[in-house]
Amino acid sequence: MRRWLPVALWAGFVLYASTSVGSGDHSAHYLRPFLAWLFPWLASASYPDINFFTRKTAHVVQFVVYAALLWRGLRLPPALTVRTRSVVAWVLGSSAALGFLSEGIQLFSAQRTAQLADVGLDFGGAVLGAALVLALGALIGRRTPPETPPRPPEEEPPGKVLITSDLHLDDAADGGRGILEELRSRFVQSGADVLLVAGDFGVAERAEEWMAGLRAAAGPGAEVVICLGNHDHWLQGEADGCRSPEDVREKFWRPACKAHRIHCLDFENVSLPGVVICGGYGHYDFGFKDPDAVADSKRPTMADYQSGRFGGMTYPDMDRIPGLAGTEEAMRQTRAISHRLSAACDEGKPVLFATHTIPFSSLIVHKSAIYSPRRFFDAYSGNSAIGILISAMATSVALAVSGHTHDQTPVLQIHGVPCVNTGSGPDRLRFLLFDLKTLSVTPLQEDLRTM
Ligand SMILES: [Fe+2]
Ligand SMILES: [Fe+2]
Repeated sequence: MRRWLPVALWAGFVLYASTSVGSGDHSAHYLRPFLAWLFPWLASASYPDINFFTRKTAHVVQFVVYAALLWRGLRLPPALTVRTRSVVAWVLGSSAALGFLSEGIQLFSAQRTAQLADVGLDFGGAVLGAALVLALGALIGRRTPPETPPRPPEEEPPGKVLITSDLHLDDAADGGRGILEELRSRFVQSGADVLLVAGDFGVAERAEEWMAGLRAAAGPGAEVVICLGNHDHWLQGEADGCRSPEDVREKFWRPACKAHRIHCLDFENVSLPGVVICGGYGHYDFGFKDPDAVADSKRPTMADYQSGRFGGMTYPDMDRIPGLAGTEEAMRQTRAISHRLSAACDEGKPVLFATHTIPFSSLIVHKSAIYSPRRFFDAYSGNSAIGILISAMATSVALAVSGHTHDQTPVLQIHGVPCVNTGSGPDRLRFLLFDLKTLSVTPLQEDLRTM
């Protein structure tokens, strides 16, 4: 209401003024005594010209205000960035539409004359409004020193976060022991204080075993933070009372994480000195489905995506995770992450954001053109709505990291957010080191283990 009511009220006022209420006779009626009082020496013969000029100026002013209110409603920073540029076009387009509507109304009033030139004045006013917002933003930006996140002086921030994902402990023949040993050795070598693993440990029934192994790998004093992955929602046995992915999280992961003092981002944000870690599983909302996915000369339908089956390909989540239907889990994830991200940003510290699935399609890596049928699986790579959420919080998000695709990416600036995929997977663990002082991320050099 606070964002859009002023826009609606102002548009209503503009349209109301387009009726006979805003006719030239009416404005002259009020202007004449005012001019006679203010400028008694002014010849009354000049009143019609002044009335005409005032009315044309009112067109411009109305739309300066309208464009500024729209800008405010869209909660854009008063600066011309990649993100605002497309919306400037939207502000101007919307103003032009209101201008045409306003003149259109005058076609039906005997006291008014619709004029195309007035739409031009309205549009000019909107351009002026947008330019004034930008100029004001540039002026304020020059005077205000850049904001630094508040950091309590008595608390020494942890230095580094070691980030990885997709351990797939149950895929390994030795029950994941080798993977956890490598993780331990890389964590010690890196000198990091915090370990962050972005999902895909293994089947949910063995959550306690996986979390015990993770705690042992990090050592008793380290902060360990995880988010869950799709594989962590898989059940190896019967549904055992679990009717949804949420049931799996509550039944297996919440107690396992609690028992081993591991923070799970699916349940809580982790506020450390100098940084808030936020995120969660993510799931897929089918926003990244690739229009080039073709098998047997057919393109997958929405029903194919929802069943996870197409052209002989099968996406196993549908059989292994209880209660997956449509986009319900994607919406549940988006809602929960939206709340946690708002709370994280409210802390005023940089946010390290971690999801298992990817938030932006640019993080999908295609190896070659012959990969085409497998592009069906792109639909299951991430959640586009979560990408929109973090774009909106771009000034707070210091890094958005994800896993799931097992494809490594460089750090990409997407909508003002530095984004990276760990590239870690069952055949090769990969690690990133996030420096909390510089807020920069670097991949760790050559891995120890290649299976
Ligand atoms: Fe994975
Ligand atoms: Fe995954």
